Formats: sequence, structure tokens, C-alpha cells
Amino acid sequence: MSEPRGKKTHDDMWDSGTQGLITRIAVVAALAGLLFGFDTGVISGALDYIGDAFNLGDIGKSAVVSSVLLGAVVGSLVAMAIIDRIGRRRSLIASGAVFIVGSIASAVAPGVGALDIARLLLGVAIGISAVAAPMYITEIAPAARRGQLVSFFQLMITIGILVAYVNDEAFSSNGQWRWMLITGVAPAIVLLIGMRGLPESPRWFMLKGRDADARKVLEKVNPTEVESEMAEMRRGIDEEKSASFRELVQPVLRPALIVAVGLFIIQQFTGINTVIYYAPRIFKDAGFGAGSAAIWATVSVGVINVLATLGALALIDRVGRKPLLYTGLAGMAVSLSAIAVSSMLSSGGTITAADLVTVVAVWAFVAFFAISLGPIPWLMASELFPVGVRGKAASIATVVGWLGNLFISFTFLGLLDLIGESATFFSYAAVAVLGLVFVWFLVPETKGRTLEEIEEGFIARAKARLKD
Ligand code: BGC
Repeated sequence: MSEPRGKKTHDDMWDSGTQGLITRIAVVAALAGLLFGFDTGVISGALDYIGDAFNLGDIGKSAVVSSVLLGAVVGSLVAMAIIDRIGRRRSLIASGAVFIVGSIASAVAPGVGALDIARLLLGVAIGISAVAAPMYITEIAPAARRGQLVSFFQLMITIGILVAYVNDEAFSSNGQWRWMLITGVAPAIVLLIGMRGLPESPRWFMLKGRDADARKVLEKVNPTEVESEMAEMRRGIDEEKSASFRELVQPVLRPALIVAVGLFIIQQFTGINTVIYYAPRIFKDAGFGAGSAAIWATVSVGVINVLATLGALALIDRVGRKPLLYTGLAGMAVSLSAIAVSSMLSSGGTITAADLVTVVAVWAFVAFFAISLGPIPWLMASELFPVGVRGKAASIATVVGWLGNLFISFTFLGLLDLIGESATFFSYAAVAVLGLVFVWFLVPETKGRTLEEIEEGFIARAKARLKD
């Protein structure tokens, strides 16, 4: 007899329970993304007040911005050491604890040295969690929703940045930068509490030879395909036992490493963080000098970043990764060139048509970034590698990303003085064009394939190429 309409069948209930757990895992892990966005973005509005409080010039200010990035480099290296050893889940919990300490220490810092060290600590937490969170989600998510769920991590980064901008605005009337910084404690506490009771990644259990534990998790997150998933994971593990660093650069894995590292280089060297960290400065240069106009223009960047990332979530498993990369990179090349041209025409005085073009071009640049280079490097760093090398490989790719971020953020203000805004943005546009070539020739489409299928395809192709 058929079930009455609207009444849930047993299977539906199983399914919604499973979906609920997977969504909970993705949301909690992605809180690490919110902290990443908050703690990197918060500095844009706080910087001038910190500069005044500690009497800092451009170099001192750049150091306050960059210390968090240097910490993230260290954090990615720490992730490399711990993620296979203690697991994805416990690495995330460890990062949550460091987030709490770093947030409190930065808000109470008595001097600029202490502030730089506290921000370095926050960076370590960001670096660890930016490897652990996407990997944790990737290894638990079903193939058909993997892109969307990992992009959720990026969505939380963008929400974190937006919250940071609004938070800065709220405390800006009397320059209370310490209050701006302390807000980050709240999501860190929620992350720590939220991780309690969540399961470890089944693929990590398999890596450790704990098949029974892996099976228990699969029964919760993918109950209809336990046997096939177990078999597939076992095959993946047999092929690639936990590997040393040297094995990681072996010829069969090299193409995957080149793609993951390359995507992070392009993500950073197209200059997204000049806008994310220094947006008030760019808008001030475009004539939006009067305090709150520049800040609201900055908030608008945060809003567009969030909205366009929602677009990426809707599209990434449907149209695939490569079409989004083509559209995003082409759009970024055009909008970066438009910023370069309009800044040449800007008089720096009252707002002209060229200044309005700058604003629209900055919005377009952020939107095109958010549908493509925002989420995809994080996703691919977690999905391209065999499980035995996944932790180390993803850490290397993100280390390179953080170094790129550090380089761009640290050199931006100096470059503006040295070669001017126009040449600076033209050079970012050139990187976007190179990025298109890179994607065309080297990046595979991973939409809808299981992690094991992706590895097999990649390794088979590399082996075939080696034979030639
Ligand atoms: C990048 C960050 C950037 C953010 C902007 C992330 O994917 O790694 O460097 O600030 O996107 O949304």
C-alpha cells in the first residue's frame, strides 16, 4: 500500500537524519572559516586606530596585518605534523582552543609587540583549521554534495569578513579597537562546544587501520552505502599508505600538487586581499574620503562577497569547477583592468565618473573571485590527493597560499607608492590571464566523482604520461 501523501517513509526519515548530521558537521567545521574571515578581516577597520594608539607608520601597520598571515604559514606546517597523527577532528578542536587564547591576548595587548605575537597565534589557529576543516568536510560529505559543503567553508570565511567589517563600524565611533578584536572569542567558543559529539572522519579511521570505527561513522553519515564506501576506501588506502614527504613529490603525485599549489598562487596573486584588507584605503583614494562613506563602501564589498559565494554554492556541483574558474578568472581580469584604468583617470578630489567605475569594478572583481577562486582551491586541495598523502599535500598547498597572501598584503602599500595603483592592478590582471591558461591545460574536472575516482583518474593519467 502506498504511504499517505506528506507522511514520511522510514527511508525518508533515515535520510533526513543523515542529512541533518552531515549538515551539522559542515556548519560546525565551517565555523573555523568564520573565524578565519573574522580574524583576517577585522584588521581593515581597526588598523588606523591601532596605528594611532601605538604611533605606527606604514611598515608597522603592514606588520600588524601580516603577523596573522605569518602565523597561518606556521599553522599550516603544524597541521602537516598533526593532522594524520591526531586526526581531523582533534586538530580542529586544538585550533579552537588557540583561537580563544589568541583573541583574548590580542584584545588586551599592552603594546604593538604583544599585539603582533597575539595575532601570530591567531594565525596559527587559522592555519591549522584551514587545512583541517575543509578536509574533515571533504572526507565525510557524499560525492554529489561535496563541492557545496566545502564551499560552505568559504561562505563562512566571507560571512566572517562581513561580520568583522560591521563589527568594526559598530566600534569605530570612538576608535575602540580592543572591542573590535575581542568579538572573535564568541565563535571560537561555539566551535569548541559544537565539535563535542561529532564523529571523526571515516577515512582517517581507515588510514589508522580502525575499520570498525570507520564503519560506525559511515552507518551514521551514509547508511545506504556502507559496504561500497568501505570497499572503496580500503582500495584507496591499499594503494597509498601514509606517505613520507619525499613520496609526495614523486612523479605520479606531482600533477595534483601542481594544480593545488597553482590554484592557491593564482588565488592570492590576483590580489583579492588588497581589497579585503585595504578596502577603506582604495575607496579613500577614489575620493570617498569622508569617514563613513569609505567604511560603508567597504561593508558593501563584504556583502557582495557573501552573496556571490552563495551563487558558487548553488552552482559548483551543478555546472562543475572548471566553468566557474573560466568565468571567474575572465571576469577578474576585466574588472582588475577596469580598476587600473579608472584609477589612472581619478583626480583624487571630488568624486568623478572614474571613481564610480572604480567602485563598480571592485564589486565585480570580488563577485567574480567569490564564484571561483574563493572556494575552489580549498576544495581541490582536499579532494585531489590519495588519503595517505592528503594531509601533507593540502598543508603544502595552503602554506604556499599563505606565503602568497603575506607577500601581496605586505607589498601592497609599498607598491602603491612605488609604481602606483594602476600598474599594481594591471599586474594582478595579468596573473588572472595566466590563471586562465593554467586552468585550461592543467586543472581536472572533479564534479560528482568520488574521492577515490578522482585519485585513480589523476594517477592513471600521470602514469600514462610517465610511460610516454
Ligand atoms: C582566501 C582569503 C580571502 C578570502 C576572501 C579566501 O578563499 O583564501 O585569502 O581573504 O577568500 O573571501
